[in-house]
Amino acid sequence: MTDLDQMRDNLLAAVEASGGLDALDTVRVGALGKQGSITALLKTLGAMSPEQRLVEGPRIQGLREAVTTAIAERKAALDRADLDARLARETLDMTLPADGIGAGSVHPVSQVMDELAEIFADLGFAVATGPEIEDDWHNFTALNIPETHPARAMHDTFYFPAQPEASTAGAGQSPSSDGELGSPRAALDSSRMLLRTHTSPVQIRAMKAAGGDKPIRIIAPGRTYRSDSDATHTPMFHQVEGLVIDKGITLGHLKWTLETFLKAFFERDDIVLRLRPSYFPFTEPSAEVDVGFSLVNGKRVIGGSDGWMEVLGSGMVHRTVIEAGGYDPDEWQGFAFGCGIDRLAMLKYGMDDLRAFFDGDIRWLKHYGFAALDVPTLSGGVGA
Ligand code: DAH
Repeated sequence: MTDLDQMRDNLLAAVEASGGLDALDTVRVGALGKQGSITALLKTLGAMSPEQRLVEGPRIQGLREAVTTAIAERKAALDRADLDARLARETLDMTLPADGIGAGSVHPVSQVMDELAEIFADLGFAVATGPEIEDDWHNFTALNIPETHPARAMHDTFYFPAQPEASTAGAGQSPSSDGELGSPRAALDSSRMLLRTHTSPVQIRAMKAAGGDKPIRIIAPGRTYRSDSDATHTPMFHQVEGLVIDKGITLGHLKWTLETFLKAFFERDDIVLRLRPSYFPFTEPSAEVDVGFSLVNGKRVIGGSDGWMEVLGSGMVHRTVIEAGGYDPDEWQGFAFGCGIDRLAMLKYGMDDLRAFFDGDIRWLKHYGFAALDVPTLSGGVGA
């Protein structure tokens, strides 16, 4: 056995014998490190004659490769053993009782969204969604709110920086970081991205997706954003949109649907609605809907007609909007409505400060939250 063979056997045995990553690294440094035995051998190549180098070169390189491979394999084996040991050490007994850990609760907003889905499913409505990062066209233009429309200013929109001039990028692309907030050129760009100010753009998306030739019945609950903050406004809030597109739809269908919805939601038959003529760019005619309340010990309780509370906006979908959605307005009509979910939750479950909804205070959640298995059903009373 030559010296090299002997060295190989010794090193491979040392690699195999190392019982941990530290020991293995000591072997590695001893062989392949700057002062290592193999490194020293490699250095001798320079002083050899070409003939000798031709013979010794491949042998020394072969030794180096064999030791390197053995170290890598041993390292992988040690890593695996280490992981197995950790998995065995850190096992979790999933059968342990959860007592004392403190179960979470369902946020009232989630609860109300579930209630809405349940009530409207019973009326044949599907749940639709749209992106929270929306483009200007879907959020405004397609909803008959052109660039110069004052309603845009009323929405206190969070815009993303404008796309760079040279870019041909359209809607759906990620916003760039240059450009100025609110610059006039950017305001005229209908591919400009923004945080949707209402759930109404889902109307357009639902119509586009349906292809212009099928009836639609959807609700679209979700997050919406406006630069506004006080006791009754938070920069992020929740709305639900409703849209029906079909042939021969009238204001009567709208009124019946809203009445049925609100009676089921507030779980009372004595709900009185008042439709007040109003204006929204995307509906014509438009109506704001108030529900009557009665005063019980000085507190407002939904039902009766001692006073009125505005709960939603609605109307017959404007021709221009039906057209923007790819439908022929001479054939198809529809109604739409939009409603603040947080406000519905406050009215039904009696909270009076909207900001507490989003503070994440565990005491508030314990008090106002719902048990996770409390799934709303119509038969059980939706909020049961
Ligand atoms: N998008 C309106 C808002 O955020 C609410 C609204 C009003 C939605 C009337 C509608 C509607 O669909 O028909 O203020």
